[in-house]
Amino acid sequence: MGFFTQLFGNKRKTSAGREATPTQAAGKPNGNAQRAVFFDAMASEWDIMTKLSQTQEQQLAELIDRVGIPEGSVVVDAGCGTGVLYKYLAPRIGSTGRVLGIDISPRMISLAETKFGHDQRFRWHTGSVEKCIEEIAPDGIDRIICYSSFPHFDDQKGFLQIAAQALRPGGKLAIIHLGSADEINGLHSNIEDSPVAHDTLPSIRDLTMMAQDLSLAVQTSQEQPGVYFFLGASLKRS
Ligand SMILES: C[S@@+](CC[C@H](N)C(=O)[O-])C[C@H]1O[C@@H](n2cnc3c(N)ncnc32)[C@H](O)[C@@H]1O
Repeated sequence: MGFFTQLFGNKRKTSAGREATPTQAAGKPNGNAQRAVFFDAMASEWDIMTKLSQTQEQQLAELIDRVGIPEGSVVVDAGCGTGVLYKYLAPRIGSTGRVLGIDISPRMISLAETKFGHDQRFRWHTGSVEKCIEEIAPDGIDRIICYSSFPHFDDQKGFLQIAAQALRPGGKLAIIHLGSADEINGLHSNIEDSPVAHDTLPSIRDLTMMAQDLSLAVQTSQEQPGVYFFLGASLKRS
């Protein structure tokens, strides 16, 4: 949680006379457009603010290993930010794999393109994952990874439904955080009056129930301080 405190430490406590969040400055309280403004304002500092410790990097690498990404996979990085997953995905997808990064923040996407545009296996798209996932991968997707992004999706059940439809037979959806739901939700609620203040990560139990209603077979659900890992598999048959 250290990097979260670092991330939002100077944007908390927004009552009169204190520093406003970028979105407060824009005068808008919620919704995807407002989240895009919020994350746009953080984009240039994002990599520094969210830098993981060596232990966290190792932990994230192990979680990505548990997703199981066969070479040649089509992977969607949903809410990709500046492309923090690049270094974990690039070695795993092989020469024929593809990664489609999607984010509502144009500045996050622009930075991802600047950093990783040289790698033709990666493509970066601005837009909401709910709206563009099918359009950018009409032939289906093998893995959808939401790393630190799921709480920000407006309609979480709708997203799960769209994701389940977009997965190929054998495809999997992973929702990953380096924090429990309580830890992540505490972090968001501390950023008062921002468009993410009420963005909530459901408990793994609630998420599991949601996913089961939507034709995703739950393969792993783990939640403890410092880790939230959900892996659901498509029930489609080839
Ligand atoms: C906490 S950041 C995480 C970014 C990146 N995954 C990382 O860990 O560095 C959440 C990201 O999700 C994006 N986001 C929020 N709602 C989204 C949506 N509906 N579709 C696509 N991206 C979204 C935000 O713009 C933001 O970049």
